[in-house]
Amino acid sequence: MTQNIAQLKDELTQAIAAANDLQKLEEARVAALGKKGRITDLMKTLGNLAPEERKDFGAAINLLKDEVTALIEKQEAGLKKQAMAEKLSRETLDITLPIRPEAKGTIHPISQTMDELISIFGSMGFQLDEGPDIEDDWHNFTALNFPPGHPAREMHDTFYLPDDADEKGEAAKKLLRTHTSTVQIRHMMGKKPPFKMICMGRVYRSDYDMTHTPVFHQIEGLVIDKNINMGHLKGCLMDFLRAFFENDKLGVRLRPSFFPFTEPSAEMDIGCSRKNGELKIGEGDDWLEILGCGMVHGNVLKNCGIDPDEYQGFAFGMGIERIAMLKYGIPDLRTFFESDTRWLDHYGFNPLDRPNRATGGK
Ligand code: PHE
Repeated sequence: MTQNIAQLKDELTQAIAAANDLQKLEEARVAALGKKGRITDLMKTLGNLAPEERKDFGAAINLLKDEVTALIEKQEAGLKKQAMAEKLSRETLDITLPIRPEAKGTIHPISQTMDELISIFGSMGFQLDEGPDIEDDWHNFTALNFPPGHPAREMHDTFYLPDDADEKGEAAKKLLRTHTSTVQIRHMMGKKPPFKMICMGRVYRSDYDMTHTPVFHQIEGLVIDKNINMGHLKGCLMDFLRAFFENDKLGVRLRPSFFPFTEPSAEMDIGCSRKNGELKIGEGDDWLEILGCGMVHGNVLKNCGIDPDEYQGFAFGMGIERIAMLKYGIPDLRTFFESDTRWLDHYGFNPLDRPNRATGGK
């Protein structure tokens, strides 16, 4: 009898170990412990035994039953663990995808420089204004004290638009603005000073060489109030240039000049060195012209309905490409407009750069 039990235990143990999925294990359980299972069958034979035999045999079968149950539970736990591991590995999400390739675009040096200009003049309390690219003769010239037929008009190499000027007269003649001073006229017209504004945008002149392109960008500024003088002009522009070129000791000087819309007129130079043909800003004892400026001409104020005996002020203007070329060491103006991606890669700016925190191209 005992031998029978030992043998049965071996067989059942093997069958349980061989059950390699939950279904087979269940079959093995039924075959051992089910209603017609081998252990159950063995239990049924107990009734035929003599009482003293029955006690030992009963205890042995119960032990076997417990052992087999434990084995099944153990096997079941193992199989469940294995099934879960398989499921997890099958359903795994690969969250280690490679990051997207770095964004290709860069901020054009003109946009970057404009952002810097807004940031500096904005912090000085200037307001930004805009005006149309297509202008008329009055806003571009006459209001700015260019009398009809004045030679300064010729110097602007103006693009005129074919239109009905003959019928409406000279002042309505359409053109592409040759400077952004037009925006200052629009800003002043019909409003009461004080004014403290800048404007930026495209301007057009029929010219093309290493330092001239038919379209380029200007920034102009205007300050009008009751007691504005040349001292304010110089201080304001000096502060601006030192901030823009990130050099607190940058030398500046004013040189007399001529513009129809300012009196007196001046050009501002910044200190530089040209040793061995290499231009370095903020060093040495040489000078480089950087912008035009002056006290707004009384006629311009009058043309905009402002009394020059009550209000005065200054204006200034400069080429954005020019100051960008100087700050970022870009040698040829024409390259700004060629859309060459190699140039943009080299001179463009990271979109996440903060204006005027940048120290140059990438
Ligand atoms: N409008 C002038 C130009 O385009 C620049 C300028 C503006 C000069 C304001 C003086 C004062 O040449």
